Amino acid sequence: MSTLKRCHNISDLRRLARRRLPSPFFHYLDGGSDDERSLARNTAAFDDYELMPNYLVDISKIDLKTTVLGRTIEMPFFCSPTGMSRLFHHEAEPAVARAAAKFGTYYSLSTLATTRLERISEVCTGPKMFQIYILKDRELTREFVQRCKDARFDALCLTVDSVIAGNRERDKRTGMTMKPRFTLRSLASFAAHPGWWLQLIRHHDFRLANLTHRDTVMSDAHTSVIEYVNSQYDRTLNWNDVAWLVEQWGGPFAIKGLQSVQDAQRAVDVGASAIMISNHGGRQLETSPAPVDCVARIRDAVGDRIELIVDGGIRRGTHVIKALALGANACSIGRAYLYGLAAGGQAGVEHALGLLRAEVERGMALLGCPSVDRLTRECVSRRK
Ligand SMILES: Cc1cc2nc3c(=O)[nH]c(=O)nc-3n(C[C@H](O)[C@H](O)[C@H](O)COP(=O)(O)O)c2cc1C
Repeated sequence: MSTLKRCHNISDLRRLARRRLPSPFFHYLDGGSDDERSLARNTAAFDDYELMPNYLVDISKIDLKTTVLGRTIEMPFFCSPTGMSRLFHHEAEPAVARAAAKFGTYYSLSTLATTRLERISEVCTGPKMFQIYILKDRELTREFVQRCKDARFDALCLTVDSVIAGNRERDKRTGMTMKPRFTLRSLASFAAHPGWWLQLIRHHDFRLANLTHRDTVMSDAHTSVIEYVNSQYDRTLNWNDVAWLVEQWGGPFAIKGLQSVQDAQRAVDVGASAIMISNHGGRQLETSPAPVDCVARIRDAVGDRIELIVDGGIRRGTHVIKALALGANACSIGRAYLYGLAAGGQAGVEHALGLLRAEVERGMALLGCPSVDRLTRECVSRRK
């Protein structure tokens, strides 16, 4: 914990995560696609906006609450779905779910998690969302919907930007590929992290926990669950399929990965409750726009007919404030909490969430804005 205490912001946590993790896992967490332009731009784009303070406002109480996907959350950001958390720390997904619940905000569990969704339901006392894919095997998707209903998940989020995988060159270099082929350098990095190995031996289950029961349906051609899932991504996916899933679920429903105004309008038409404006943290289509740059345009086009969540590049409280002022209802974070997880398990995630919450609170006080609903376009302007 003492090392965590020396982390004063998310980039300190990133440095600590880098020290703690074998390099193939760090680069899998940290990297993006191609030349990583979208990855870099996601965060840099926030610098194109300035916050305009108004003073002599009562800021004795700052109200960070907002409502998304049918639940009021205690702070205006939450944890995005990320797969394979056990690679980063043996406490894995339950650590993030417990930390999010402590902060009164959403935890999102990925289909590609290393913890069963029923287990998350047991440990997560706060709002929870399941990130789903529409797979070729619609029966499997239907089964997920039923399991989420039985496990009392609050919301479903459909990721649409990953029907094929982005080109992650860092993973190719380290050997962190579908069938790992670690390089000598990667193996040396594993050898240099004995603590990580010790935990690996004690908590070695890296399976995609929500899919292992499907072992029986894998043909000879599919030698692993990951290959099975990859073979299951449906390239024919379209808006009719989304309408089908909205109906199957019948509850709060987000579409994750949209960026264009046209798609946002279709999301409204199909009956979604929220759009997660996202480019998958710069891990999919290289040079797709930074999510923060899409917010105002989409908000102007859809009005109040749908909730908007900004996901990508958030490393500072002021980033959250800017996204909300431009029209988002909430933000979500991926790497920021994963750095915390890698740096110190649940305590590390709590540290990341605590740092960001304090930054949002301080930023709103300095801005002269005592509540989230008072963050409007007047608070933010594009730098000339
Ligand atoms: C290691 C890692 C794994 C991810 N796995 C998933 C996933 O399984 N499903 C999904 O919809 N998004 C996944 N994402 C994307 C995140 O949900 C989110 O869109 C992204 O991390 C936001 O950008 P940020 O990391 O800059 O905050 C993953 C991201 C990372 C970094």
